[in-house]
Amino acid sequence: MDITILGAGYVGLVSAACLADLGHHVTCIDTNAARIEALRRGEMPIYEPGLDAIVARTTANGHLRFETDPAGALARAEAAFICVGTPPRPDDGEADLGFVFSAARDIARFARDRIVVVTKSTVPVGTGDLIEGLIRRMRPQLDFGVVSNPEFLKEGAAIADFMQPDRIVVGAQSAWAGNTVAAIYATLARRGAPILRTRRRSAEAIKYAANAFLAIKLSFINEIADFCEAWDADIGDVASGIGLDRRIGPDFLQPGPGYGGSCFPKDLRALLHSARERAVGLRMVETASAVNEARKWAMGRRVRAAINGDIAECRVAVLGLTFKAETDDMRESPALAIIAALRREGAQIRVHDPRGMAVAREMIEGVTFADEAKDCLRNADILVIATGWREFAALDPREVAGLMRGRTVFDLRNILAPGAWRAAGFDLRRIGEARPPATIAYTADPAPHDRAASADPAGPAFTRSPAPSNGEFLAHGPAMKPAE
Ligand code: UDX
Repeated sequence: MDITILGAGYVGLVSAACLADLGHHVTCIDTNAARIEALRRGEMPIYEPGLDAIVARTTANGHLRFETDPAGALARAEAAFICVGTPPRPDDGEADLGFVFSAARDIARFARDRIVVVTKSTVPVGTGDLIEGLIRRMRPQLDFGVVSNPEFLKEGAAIADFMQPDRIVVGAQSAWAGNTVAAIYATLARRGAPILRTRRRSAEAIKYAANAFLAIKLSFINEIADFCEAWDADIGDVASGIGLDRRIGPDFLQPGPGYGGSCFPKDLRALLHSARERAVGLRMVETASAVNEARKWAMGRRVRAAINGDIAECRVAVLGLTFKAETDDMRESPALAIIAALRREGAQIRVHDPRGMAVAREMIEGVTFADEAKDCLRNADILVIATGWREFAALDPREVAGLMRGRTVFDLRNILAPGAWRAAGFDLRRIGEARPPATIAYTADPAPHDRAASADPAGPAFTRSPAPSNGEFLAHGPAMKPAE
């Protein structure tokens, strides 16, 4: 089929490359001429494993091309995919549909008859109706359909998510438009991908509901991790134990410093905005979002609480800046809040990320950028693992011990092998696991950083229950001076 993709961002590019690889003839359009030029040279604007190879293959065999002018492509296209950004408005989180409507106007101007307009961008429920109305007003005679086909692409695994999807959602108001979109995915359906046909508004709602549910799952497991720390249980075991229940499932139960990225924070804000518009209470979603925001800052305080003495003398190495591994995306990354919290206190911070350095240099001030992990670690008092890159998991603790000045490690992704790191003399603090009693048991009020948490404008999200009856309060421990 002849397909035009409007938008060569993350979703547009992955969709264009994969649809071309499925045998369609795809033209990917972007108004950013520099980006299109770079793509024609084979340079990817984002880091996504496997994407460059598919783009190279499909441009070479003539199935994929890149253009800035939509007129020619839309005059041929049987389907036009809208894959543009829907950034949140700063004041109220409402999704800004400016790019979506601009793409719809291009379609209205240039499309041939019997075109199917496919919305892949994440848009508020009812946007399909608005797109339809806009095109209808501009081209009353045009025969067209508008279909919602949301994307469920995880950064870092987007190609696999596209080619082996859990499901393909096709939300249409007419059978022919829905059938056309289903036909685009016929190869994937033959390989076993379920195609769910729904009304258009339901499809739009599915995307928000899926992201909201996953965000709730993450905030839930992160709070259970705090509970495990307070009561000396192990979150790894707890996550396995509940994940084996088929009603819960094992995925998305990895605790961490909070979720980030381009989707969850933005989509939850937009969903809450839509809910407010119709006076619907979405308290679970609201709470998941608030818990996550508080958690990112609480991680910074957690590290701060381990520093005794003059914080200006303390050198903190932060490994991992992107919001998760296998991406160069730093949007809403927990590392940003952790670094900001420590910077505010005056700590000396060195940072490194395998892929995010270029973006990080534009986003973070007042830190030293290390091109290599080892340079980042040299003479550090405290190490913070903020992103779960494989190369960090593979660090040799004995070598790290030779580089660092101190021995305190916050593994906020639980990727380091605890036995090896503790055997190498490190005071390793993991998420959702009480530290070994020898180092952590003390008789005291709740830890100082927890009182700080209560005073935080973000709210007392991480206060602890009273000490167990034996008088020992198991927490992250009293403030400690980093080992010299
Ligand atoms: C998400 C959705 O998964 C995808 O379907 C949607 O279309 C776009 O948004 P993405 O933002 O790329 O994808 O990342 P994802 O892998 O879902 O992770 C989101 C955040 O949750 C990351 O910060 C990640 O580190 C965190 N996470 C994820 C955890 O902390 N623990 C987990 O078990 C899983």
